[in-house]
Amino acid sequence: MVIPAGIVAVCCAAGAARGDDSTPGSLTGSRGDPARGRAIVASRQVGLCLLCHSGPFPEERFQGNLAPPLAGAGSRWTEGQLRLRIVDPGRLNPSTIMPAYYRTEGLVRVAPAWRGKTVLSAEQIEDVVAFLVTLKD
Ligand code: HEC
Repeated sequence: MVIPAGIVAVCCAAGAARGDDSTPGSLTGSRGDPARGRAIVASRQVGLCLLCHSGPFPEERFQGNLAPPLAGAGSRWTEGQLRLRIVDPGRLNPSTIMPAYYRTEGLVRVAPAWRGKTVLSAEQIEDVVAFLVTLKD
């Protein structure tokens, strides 16, 4: 099913209008693991974050420059702000190129095998958030 762009725009505008800039609660009810989060962020198979971002990963060649560097993200944003930016960045910037890593609704052109599935699991989201909060300037 193709969801008309208008519906996406309405859902995102509603989030922005409420002034929601953060998702304060853990998706799993517990803390993630920063070491697992680092591995997800650096992985070319799982997180793919380095397609667009660079970060403090001296071992990784060819990091992205389409997005702000992840270094210092934990100083710029609270844990809840980081969570929302991974879960559903379109809520903050409807025209963002960053994928929503934990959303199944309002997506367009999703291949049948992926429908109803999030890119990362709730546990993986919490691991990534736990890692990002450690990235202080
Ligand atoms: C296809 C490109 C792309 C991918 C892949 C991507 N991002 Fe992003 N990300 C962006 C862009 C562009 C921004 C800037 C804000 C915006 O346009 O939404 C951003 C913003 C962010 C921010 C806020 C940065 C700041 O300091 O302003 C964080 C944190 C972040 N991304 C983390 C991640 C993580 C973690 C992953 C992998 C799980 C990831 N991103 C994957 C493109 C991407």
